[in-house]
Parts: sequence; structure tokens; C-alpha cells
Amino acid sequence: MVERIKKVLIKEADVKARVKQLAEEISRDYKGQTVVLICILSGASVFFADLVRELDLDVRFEFMSVSSYGGGTVSSGEVKILKDVSYPIVGKHVIIVEDIIDSGCTLSYLKRVLEQRNPASIKVCTILDKPSRRKVDFKGEYVGFEIPDEFVIGYGLDYDGKYRNLKDVCVLELSEE
Ligand code: IMP
Ligand code: MG
Repeated sequence: MVERIKKVLIKEADVKARVKQLAEEISRDYKGQTVVLICILSGASVFFADLVRELDLDVRFEFMSVSSYGGGTVSSGEVKILKDVSYPIVGKHVIIVEDIIDSGCTLSYLKRVLEQRNPASIKVCTILDKPSRRKVDFKGEYVGFEIPDEFVIGYGLDYDGKYRNLKDVCVLELSEE
């Protein structure tokens, strides 16, 4: 397979502005409360680092790692927790921070698992959303950008472990030669 960056979908400055808006919204909604932010590794790491610094709240960081894709671009629908949070979330206000909602499988599973631990509340914040790709009904409470059905890289998102450090969100094209 030959990979090629086809185009820039969302420029760095636009991502930055939207992150700020999301942070303002979250800061308003959770005013005066402590929030446990769960970063879903590795894709959400860049978004998480930007988002948390814009929040005007008392926050705690947690990190989880779940398996979704192998090396390809199509979700298997299978989800496994590879790394769990290090502190119980019972009675806490929790926000799951994710890079993208695609089929919805990863987050609907994860949210269900975390709800069983009896947090005070649980919401999902994602920088990107591909609603046309849903296999399960799922909606994030804080969504940065709805994007078309294209495979994107950059701003934390990877293809086969690569391109996470790109500043813009770009569309990746894969061809046979
Ligand atoms: P879902 O379970 O299908 O919603 O998949 C969610 C995960 O798939 C995300 O956390 C990403 O890691 C990955 N993913 C989905 N679409 C893309 C994409 O366009 N580029 C890179 N990773 C993606
Ligand atoms: Mg991911």
C-alpha cells in the first residue's frame, strides 16, 4: 500500500480555536466541580494536552488504553482494555477525552464499562466525529468537528502508528501502488 497525504482537512489554527470553545463550554458546565478527565491513549494525547490547559476547573488526569484497530483503517468492533485508570472513579464527574468517534463501538463499550463503576456523571468529549460511519448509536456531548467519511491523520491520529505529530488534521489516501 502506498500512503499519501491528500489534503489538509482542518488547519492547526481552526483546531486551536475550536479546542478553546470546547474548553469554555466544559468550564461553564462543570463550574465549581472537580472533574476527572480520562485521556484515551494514544490518539487523544495531543487533544488532551491542549484541552486541559484551556480548562478553568479543578481537574484530575487519568489515562486509559483500549485496543480498537490493528494496523488497518477499519474497526474490528472488538474492544479490550489494555490499561485502566489508576484511581477509582466512583462518585466522580468523569469526561472521557477521545480523538475521534467512528463506528462508535469503542466509546459505547467504554462508557458502559465506566458507568458500571458508579461515577457521579460521565460524558464524552471528542475533537472529531464521523457520524456517517456509526455501527452503534452513539453521541458525544462535546464534539469538535463533524467530518466526512475519510481516513484522517494528524493532531494525535495515526495510520499504522505514524503521523500523530502533524499539526493539521489531514486526509490520508491509500492506493495499491
Ligand atoms: P470506533 O470504535 O470505530 O468509533 O473507533 C474509534 C477509534 O478508531 C479512534 O479512537 C481512532 O483511534 C480510530 N479511528 C477511527 N477513525 C479514524 C481515522 O480516520 N483516522 C485515525 N484513526 C481512526
Ligand atoms: Mg483512538
